[in-house]
Amino acid sequence: MHVTIIGTGYVGLVTGACLADAGNHVLCLDLMEAKIAQLNAGKIPIYEPGLEAIVKRNREAGRLRFTTSVPDSVAHAEVQIIAVGTPPGEDGSADLQHVLAAARSIGMHMKDRKVVVTKSTVPVGTADKVRAAVTGELQKRGLDLAVAAVSNPEFLKEGAAVNDFMRPERVIIGSDDSHAISLLRQLYAPFQRNHERIMVMGVRSAELTKYAANSMLATRISFMNEIANLAEAIGADIEEVRRGIGSDSRIGYHFLYPGVGYGGSCFPKDVKALQKSAQLAGRPLRVLAAVHEVNEAQKRVLADKIRVRFGDKLSGRRFALWGLAFKPNTDDMREAPSLSLIAELIGAGASVCAYDPAAREEARRHFEGERRVEIVDSPMAALEGADALAIVTEWQEFRSPDFADIKARLRTPAIFDGRNLYDPAVMRDQGIEYYCIGRSA
Ligand SMILES: NC(=O)c1ccc[n+]([C@@H]2O[C@H](COP(=O)([O-])OP(=O)(O)OC[C@H]3O[C@@H](n4cnc5c(N)ncnc54)[C@H](O)[C@@H]3O)[C@@H](O)[C@H]2O)c1
Repeated sequence: MHVTIIGTGYVGLVTGACLADAGNHVLCLDLMEAKIAQLNAGKIPIYEPGLEAIVKRNREAGRLRFTTSVPDSVAHAEVQIIAVGTPPGEDGSADLQHVLAAARSIGMHMKDRKVVVTKSTVPVGTADKVRAAVTGELQKRGLDLAVAAVSNPEFLKEGAAVNDFMRPERVIIGSDDSHAISLLRQLYAPFQRNHERIMVMGVRSAELTKYAANSMLATRISFMNEIANLAEAIGADIEEVRRGIGSDSRIGYHFLYPGVGYGGSCFPKDVKALQKSAQLAGRPLRVLAAVHEVNEAQKRVLADKIRVRFGDKLSGRRFALWGLAFKPNTDDMREAPSLSLIAELIGAGASVCAYDPAAREEARRHFEGERRVEIVDSPMAALEGADALAIVTEWQEFRSPDFADIKARLRTPAIFDGRNLYDPAVMRDQGIEYYCIGRSA
């Protein structure tokens, strides 16, 4: 099948590459010329395990192409998949300007019927707006062509995106248009593993499912963070509690890890956007207001612990930081807890020397011109001359470091661990002051 992807970011590129790998002819559009030039030169603009090889083999096979030409991308396929960003607007609602611009550009150039599939995370009612945006442009051109607007929310996780796309737990198709449903069934047929995972539902249910899923996961995180803070205050160990409750099959172990709050390009904005939609519908979601509030507080937990240990004024102090990406196996730093911690530390007068296995280039761009933040190329180099080490992202390579070496390099043998990577007893034996989440030190 021919498929067009509009928006070649984390979701668009993975979707395009994986669909091409199944034999489809995919044209990916983006308005950022530099990004498309990079992709056309064989370079991958993001860090996503496994993606590079898939892009390479499908480019070489001629099944995956990249363009900045809207007329070409519209002409390429009946199925037009919108995967552009939906950042938070000023009031927290999802900003639909990119989605609707993409829809209008389809209406401006289409010459035959289209199935317009929104994969971006969008509020309930967006499919109607997408359809209206396309048909509005058609009317200006005096044309009456068939347009189906389908919701097909994406559930891939950065860091495991290729596997999630290739082996999805479910594919949601929100539509009542039998032709569109049949095309999408065909498109997703190769990704069904041992049994069919396609769920066809009403378009509004599909749109809401995505927000509800992310909000549920964010709720688990905030709930565990609050229980962790309580555990710490009353002498319980959150890691023991986590195992205790996770063993309940109704609860399960996923997303029960206490930490420094959720970040990334999805949870924070999706929680806010769902809250906003609910408010507008006159059904405010009180649970989500608490989830957000707890998360904002949790992002400050490590900085608070550092202040308790070193005092409110941190001028002249230097902190090593491991982990800049919002989670392991990605270079994505959008709304990363590391950014909150760095802001708190430099705000209090300290400087930061940070390392991340994948996000260094992204971090250097982000902190360009900020002399209080240095990004280095090895975890041990970050420790030189630092007063203490803070760990923000649970990359595998941080799990078993040479503690004697860490101790020798730090001015104070102190680790502030936002991910509970180490055993407090081992830290005691090593003579390292160890501050973690939800376990009395
Ligand atoms: N990143 C994730 O893990 C993830 C997972 C599931 C769903 N989503 C959702 O998918 C959507 C995209 O997220 P992302 O992380 O891939 O975003 P992104 O910012 O990485 O990529 C979006 C791309 O769209 C391009 N773009 C914007 N307007 C355009 C237009 N009119 N025509 C062509 N290209 C255009 C941008 O230049 C950018 O390259 C969002 O709604 C997000 O909430 C993201």
